[in-house]
Amino acid sequence: MTILLTGGAGYIGTHTCVALLELGYDIIVADNYINSTPLAIDRVKEITGKNFKSYDVDVCDIPGMERVFEENKIDAVIHFAGLKAVGESCAIPLRYYRNNLDSTLTLLECMQKYGVRNFVFSSSATVYGTSQNMPLDEKEPTGCTNPYGWTKYMIEQILRDTAAADPEFSAVLLRYFNPIGAHESGLIGEDPNGIPNNLMPRILNTAAGKMKALTVFGNDYPTPDGTGVRDYIHVCDLAEGHAAAIKYAVEHKGAEAINLGTGNGYSVFEMIHTFEEVNHTPVPYTLEPRRPGDIATCYASPEKAEKCLGWKAKRGLAEMCRDAWNWQQKNPNGYKA
Ligand SMILES: NC(=O)c1ccc[n+]([C@@H]2O[C@H](COP(=O)([O-])OP(=O)(O)OC[C@H]3O[C@@H](n4cnc5c(N)ncnc54)[C@H](O)[C@@H]3O)[C@@H](O)[C@H]2O)c1
Repeated sequence: MTILLTGGAGYIGTHTCVALLELGYDIIVADNYINSTPLAIDRVKEITGKNFKSYDVDVCDIPGMERVFEENKIDAVIHFAGLKAVGESCAIPLRYYRNNLDSTLTLLECMQKYGVRNFVFSSSATVYGTSQNMPLDEKEPTGCTNPYGWTKYMIEQILRDTAAADPEFSAVLLRYFNPIGAHESGLIGEDPNGIPNNLMPRILNTAAGKMKALTVFGNDYPTPDGTGVRDYIHVCDLAEGHAAAIKYAVEHKGAEAINLGTGNGYSVFEMIHTFEEVNHTPVPYTLEPRRPGDIATCYASPEKAEKCLGWKAKRGLAEMCRDAWNWQQKNPNGYKA
């Protein structure tokens, strides 16, 4: 069985490439490297000892994508390709709508033309907006707070409509919580551009001495230690969730939204202390007031994933912190030499 991974050179894509290759699937990657590098593909080959085709192509490019479908017998698609920075999406919304929506439409039209009907989509917990009903389950009403989130919301709707119109079509809308960590080899990992926004990349920068101190926003939330709580998930667990979703897509029809989270909430302080303990490295921090728009707590109900996909996250916070630091130490500048 051959799976096309758009955006397969990115953070989650590379880890999913490894998981699928190790399970014996054939894969093809389509990526224009707008937020990644072909070196990441070489690293996947190095980890797995397996070869596969990769296309340098913009997924919005219709002739370019038709060539990918023409030259290969594709059975299923995982659509990672997309722009993902929330702040940037507020500054340049049209670029986000154009890239994320156009790439999806091009892909779906190619799939229709070539009779491919199994689709797994990288959605996000951001589609739950500011809901405070924890744990978040898939029946929770959706709505977004930024253009990035709206692209995910709209693509989910496009996929539901596509499935409603074609009884043979199958779409799994995977709503990721907060992927962190890296493959245990330290050969692939997250390589954010510029100053990172998310907690783990900022912890890594601080621990590596690139930032003097980590800013913790708010220690007066109604949480056990006052800091914000999120559902962090090891990227290798997330990757394995995609393999389970492919199997589900092949065996079922229709569109199904499924959370990929651990169901555990970890606080900012818990993360800092676990990181320090596991890696024997200090993470100095300073306290600042809450950031507008941040909520106290957010974590998934992982029950539907377990029921439908037979998948459950296995790795804990210590492993996430250890593997993230291993990647950082082996690649102090990410994939850049
Ligand atoms: N990382 C997270 O925290 C997170 C959380 C929820 C959802 N997601 C979603 O998961 C997907 C993968 O995320 P990631 O963290 O691996 O991001 P990433 O930026 O590392 O990977 C995305 C990949 O898509 C490629 N790409 C973007 N637009 C393209 C286009 N038009 N044509 C071809 N390639 C294109 C990029 O070059 C990159 O390799 C994204 O859709 C993202 O929105 C990520």
